[in-house]
Formats: sequence, C-alpha cells, structure tokens
Amino acid sequence: MKKLFALLLALVMVLSMTACGGGRTESAPAATTPAAPADSGNAAAPAAPAAAGGFEAGATIGVSLPWLGTQNWKEAEEMFKTELEAAGFKPIIQAADNKVPTQQQQIESMIQNGAKVIVVGPIDGTQLGAVLEEAKAAGVYVIGYDRLLENTTGVDGVVQFGSVKTGELQAQALLDGLKEMKGEGPWNIELFGGGPADPNAPNFFKGAMSVLQPLIDDGTLTVVSGQTDFTQCATMDWDNSKAQARMDSLLSGFYSDKEIHGVLSPNDGIARAIITSCEQAGQEIPAISGLDAENESVEWVWSGRQYSTIAKPTDALVAQTIEIIKSLQAGNGMPATDVQVNNGKIDVLVYELPPVVVTKDNAKEVFANDPGRLALLK
Ligand code: BGC
Repeated sequence: MKKLFALLLALVMVLSMTACGGGRTESAPAATTPAAPADSGNAAAPAAPAAAGGFEAGATIGVSLPWLGTQNWKEAEEMFKTELEAAGFKPIIQAADNKVPTQQQQIESMIQNGAKVIVVGPIDGTQLGAVLEEAKAAGVYVIGYDRLLENTTGVDGVVQFGSVKTGELQAQALLDGLKEMKGEGPWNIELFGGGPADPNAPNFFKGAMSVLQPLIDDGTLTVVSGQTDFTQCATMDWDNSKAQARMDSLLSGFYSDKEIHGVLSPNDGIARAIITSCEQAGQEIPAISGLDAENESVEWVWSGRQYSTIAKPTDALVAQTIEIIKSLQAGNGMPATDVQVNNGKIDVLVYELPPVVVTKDNAKEVFANDPGRLALLK
C-alpha cells in the first residue's frame, strides 16, 4: 500500500514538473514579444483553452464599446453592425459613455440575452474582471477589442494594433517632423499621454519614451516643463478639452519667451486641441504626432497643420475579430497566433495588426484603398 502511494506521489510530481517546464508562469513575455510558436512543443497552453463545439449560426454576439468619442469607435459601432449581420449573426452593440458601471451592466445584459461571444473595448482595462469571469462561467467567449483586458481570467484573446509599437512610431514621427519643420536641434518639446485607465495609453507612452528618452538625456530634446512621467502627461478620459487646458497652461507658464518646437500627442483629437492652443497663444505650429487617421486630422495633415497621424484601420480590426467569431462558431476554437501578452493574471492570445505612420508624403499611398479618406486629400 505504502509502495503504491509512493509510486503515485512520484508520478504526480513528475507530471507537475513537466507541466511547469512547458508552462510560462516564470517567464511570461513582455508586451508584444512574440511567444514561441504554438507547435514548438514548449509554448504556453492557451490562456483559455479553446473549447471546440461551436454554436448556432445565427447566434447573438455582444459588442461592448467604451465610448463613441473618437472616430475609430464610431466606425467600430457601424462596421460591427453591418459585418455581423452580413455574417448571419444577431449583434447587440452598446457604448458606455466612458462610465465603468454602465459598461459592466451592458456586458451583464449581453450575458443574460444569450450572447455566445462578447467583444469588449474596455473603458478601464482592470475593472471588468468579475463580469468577464461570469461570462466565461456561462460559456461565453470573450474577445478584447483594441484594448487589453487586464487582471482577469475571463478573456480568450485580444485583437489590437501593437500598442508599444504605436508609441515608438509616434515618437519617430515627431523626430522626423522636428527635422523637417524646425531645422537643426536642440528642440523644445512637451509630452502628452492618453487616458490613464486605458491600457493602451501607458503603452503608447512607454513606446514613445523608449525613443525620446535617450535624446532628452543627451540634450537634443528639452522638455521645458520637466513633465516627463506618464502620470504628469496623461489626459483624463482622453478628453480633448483637458489636453487643451493643460497645453494652455504649459504655454503660459513655460513658453512666454520661448518657441515650442514639437509635441508628442497620443491621438488625433488631442493633437488638434494642442495645435489650437498653440495657434491661440501665437506660437508657430509645432511638429506633432497623432493617432487614428481621423477625417479632420487627415485634412490637417494634408494642409500641413498637423505633421503626422497613424493609421490603425478599424475595418481591418473588425474583420480580424469577425474571423475569430466565425472560427468559434464553427467549433474550431481560437485561431493560432504567435503573440501572447500577460494581462496580470494569464497569458492572453493577441492578434496584432501593424499601425502605419501617415504624413503628407505617403498619405495617398496609405489611403489608396480607403475612398473616404482619399477624397479628403485635395
Ligand atoms: C484607441 C485610440 C483612441 C483612444 C481614445 C485608444 O485605446 O486605441 O484609437 O483614439 O483610445 O478613444
């Protein structure tokens, strides 16, 4: 009996060691680091094992969006409706006006309404853990959209544009703009970040600072206000008017006798607010980055008022999401991907698309297949 027990114990130990060896609890990859391919034999088990089985073709699909305050979310609302219906699904699409409890309730009611998949662009990446875990327990698939779902086991995968990469591109575009518009350095700049609850915002900033910090350190760039921490630079709720107010006070506080040459901006709405503030203060327009290729900013890039934006086409992100939903519906589980990101609790499968910098020079090329934006370049 004792021998049998010892044998069983040994077996259990060997099995659990094998599991540890194949797992990644100790070496979860940094954001956007490609993980080992799924077939390499030592990749992590998928964050939430893709249960085959599928569901009915005309199923209800929930889409929970954070707000409709920027063009990308309005496009997502329309495109999900059109595309999900075209694929034969019944969409429930709701936006939560940047209010976390509203988003929690909306997701709750999607579960009650029998949604088989819920697509979520979180207002606050960390505040949906309980309701998403409830969704998983009810057999619902959960897909993060555009933003990571943090600190929860209730997520099967996330579709997004590389967020650290986006920040690197924003900083690189800012440097290109400084060279083109402001001649030789050193240059005076200021830094802006997005809404601190949005998991993208600190990643955009982190990516940007990996490019800018060495040039701040060697004196090529001077952040005249000295405000270089994300917490100092963040813009609560991505609110353009808050960014404009901060820019107004930076200009009156630090630039009454100086020119501002460039500004890091996390998206287009904030870029336009900053440009407006500079114009009103009688400054030359600084070199500035952006994000989203919003119509108004595409026009400003074309007319030279905003140096650059970044295209992260909503149609591509929605198409990628619907491909996953179709795979789940057909019982094929989550498609393979070689990127995983640790969300604080588990390694999450990430389906990552590449963001593209847009300046006046390449705008026609980038929007060659986007008649709406192409029409703005005149
Ligand atoms: C999105 C951006 C958007 C911002 C504010 C971010 O998470 O990636 O496209 O401009 O949220 O809505």
